[in-house]
Amino acid sequence: MIISSADFVVSNQDVKKCPNGQLPEYAFIGRSNVGKSSLINMLTNRKSLAKTSGRPGKTQLINHFLINKSWYLVDLPGYGYARVSKTSKAKFQKFITNYFLQRKQLVCGFVLVDVRHEPQPIDTEFMEWLGANAIPFGIIFTKADKLKPNALERNIAAYQKHLTEGAWEEMPPYFITSSSKGMGRDEVLEYIHSINESLR
Ligand code: GTP
Ligand code: MG
Repeated sequence: MIISSADFVVSNQDVKKCPNGQLPEYAFIGRSNVGKSSLINMLTNRKSLAKTSGRPGKTQLINHFLINKSWYLVDLPGYGYARVSKTSKAKFQKFITNYFLQRKQLVCGFVLVDVRHEPQPIDTEFMEWLGANAIPFGIIFTKADKLKPNALERNIAAYQKHLTEGAWEEMPPYFITSSSKGMGRDEVLEYIHSINESLR
């Protein structure tokens, strides 16, 4: 899929203020610093469409980016970010869960996980919560450039084993990506394209 336009539309903390209309959207969620905003820039081929930072907690709002004037990519704050106060953490969690529960235009969420780490309860529990609420999702492994091919393969296999021996009968759709190397770009965009097509 060719990305011919990518435009920032709006940021807010309230799902009710997200763009009106029926355009389908795809949201990126995961721990702070996992690479959600970087992935949006990689997918759209824009250097700084979404704001990124080496310090966790950069994205604090629901951000809508309109792609090819026909669908949205949505950048969300990270969950489980420890350095904000407890009250603002609870507020974060609330507007993120409200977004997933209430946003009718959301056709697929992508849960991002850092491929270097073992499965973390915060991520697998979030996936289970999505499943329990019948919200379709895929998994995007990030930062694949940081591992050698063997280690990469081993970690993916371990993740798959963990999920399929746990809550899931089969592995959800998954993608192996590196935002710095552009890896996985075509696969993620093709997947989005196929869903867009199925909705026409
Ligand atoms: P929050 O907005 O804080 O929740 O973080 P985020 O998930 O949006 O992460 P962000 O995209 O800001 O990236 C965090 C850090 O990881 C930055 O320093 C990025 O340059 C780095 N990073 C993201 N993706 C990759 C990747 O694929 N490879 C490498 N090597 N670094 C990456
Ligand atoms: Mg971010």
